[in-house]
Amino acid sequence: MVKFTVIGSNTSKDLARRIARRLRATYIETQTKIFPDGESKITFGRIPKNNIILVVQSTYPPVDTNLLQILAIISQARKTCSRIYAIIPYMGYARQDKQFLSGEVVTMSIVAKMLEASGARKIFVVDIHSKTALNHFKIPTENISAVPELAKYFKRMKLKNMLVVSPDIGGSLRAKKFASLLNTDFITLKKSRDRKTGKIQIKSSKVDVKGRDLVVVDDIISTGGSIVKATQFLKKQKCKRVFVACTHGLFIGDAERKIKKAGVSQIISSNTIPKSTSKIDVSGVIARSIQ
Ligand code: R5P
Repeated sequence: MVKFTVIGSNTSKDLARRIARRLRATYIETQTKIFPDGESKITFGRIPKNNIILVVQSTYPPVDTNLLQILAIISQARKTCSRIYAIIPYMGYARQDKQFLSGEVVTMSIVAKMLEASGARKIFVVDIHSKTALNHFKIPTENISAVPELAKYFKRMKLKNMLVVSPDIGGSLRAKKFASLLNTDFITLKKSRDRKTGKIQIKSSKVDVKGRDLVVVDDIISTGGSIVKATQFLKKQKCKRVFVACTHGLFIGDAERKIKKAGVSQIISSNTIPKSTSKIDVSGVIARSIQ
């Protein structure tokens, strides 16, 4: 029988503990000290031999620090075990998966090389921004979907006359899947983002949302700009309430306040990033993908 050891790192200790419990795995927690100059000092106990080691660490801000920490943990674990899987529920840099403007560095490809070089044998992520990011890896990768878990939450809410909304064309398939799990329909807004200034605009004209409860589904909420613009547009079209479901709630700065101010009734995210909105536990879908 395969034996697992889960190493819970700085950003994802609670999630790692939950995954370990589900897999009946040995659980090891790292201790991390950040020196005044920003360097991380990581310590963890002896890991059992002949186990598959799962290192769990989302790389949300501070992205570079948290990325370096998982690289260091994998390298150290590699001294004892050869089968090391990196579980990176939220993968930072996934939005830099291709060159959008001339001269841009495709940093996702560097991240992939570093994870491979550290000794990871396989990478697991949750709802990665785009599968293009995973094409940079030469080792196997798996993208786990949190959408069914998010949908279950909204099913329990029993919203009447619900309509699912994707804030942009890139998220259309996600919204379609979410809507089908809730036996309802969906629409896709046309969003544009200025690649230089970051300015977001909703380019859609009229949509038929009058009197309906809307669930806007997205993969990431970062500055909240996309959700704020989508909500303002939908409210102008006389919808009833707006709810938001997302996998990764980064909520940079006062994103959450801005979203609420725009009129969103509730924001639900998953525990790939631990926040007050993280009502959806992804440990079950992760454990099932690994077994
Ligand atoms: C973009 O295509 C993504 O799916 C998200 O909509 C985006 O990353 C959210 O960023 P922000 O909250 O800063 O608008």
